[in-house]
Amino acid sequence: MPVFDTIKGALPMTHKTIQDALEWRYATKKYDATKKISDADWTTLRNSLTLAPSSYGVQPWKFLVIENPDVRKQLKPVSWNQTQVTDASHYVVFLYKEKMDADFVQKFINRVAEVRSAPLEALDGYKNMLVENLVKAQEEKIRVWSQRQTYIAMGFLLQTAALLKIDATPMEGFDPVAYDKILGLEGSGWKTVATVALGYRHQEDALQNQKKVRFTEDDLIQYIK
Ligand SMILES: Cc1cc2nc3c(=O)[nH]c(=O)nc-3n(C[C@H](O)[C@H](O)[C@H](O)COP(=O)(O)O)c2cc1C
Repeated sequence: MPVFDTIKGALPMTHKTIQDALEWRYATKKYDATKKISDADWTTLRNSLTLAPSSYGVQPWKFLVIENPDVRKQLKPVSWNQTQVTDASHYVVFLYKEKMDADFVQKFINRVAEVRSAPLEALDGYKNMLVENLVKAQEEKIRVWSQRQTYIAMGFLLQTAALLKIDATPMEGFDPVAYDKILGLEGSGWKTVATVALGYRHQEDALQNQKKVRFTEDDLIQYIK
């Protein structure tokens, strides 16, 4: 409860509450299918997706929230039969933009102009730079870049869920081609790269009692002095 209360402003956020949340979270294997995320919690979770940073601010991503139980059932067998797909309260599929085209750049520039009340002409330099760096870039480079951006949003979602004491599972254990087919993405320019299940751990999920396996801090963090 303390972390949840902290978010609501009842308690100050401390180093300890953040540390506790980081240790409390784990990649949940088995969800309690009877427990659902509240609307208030979901609002904060989806804000963590839409407020995530991206290179140039371009947001080459989309997030599909699969509410339809039949679609979830179809996705499960192409996800190594992982039960999180059907049993978690929420199931988010992360899509990345396969190619960066002039239309997408223009859409972004229009949005900048709208949000910041800026004349479009004032954004010409920015737009041209995006066209040079993204639209004219090698396709493979953009594909990888786009996917990387998407994982930043995933990280934001996972961390926010932990702070709210909501369980989550980052997932790559599925067939992305089958996902694209089931979700009708073929030819859309958007492709599946990863997913996150969200909800509440089942009491029987043995993994919650296992110690985290991490390399030592000395192994992972180096200070260049
Ligand atoms: C990108 C990514 C993909 C993952 N795919 C799966 C998956 O398909 N199924 C699963 O149960 N766990 C998956 N995991 C969870 C990892 O196995 C887990 O995060 C790791 O073992 C560390 O454990 P912890 O998250 O419980 O601390 C994935 C994690 C990441 C970051």
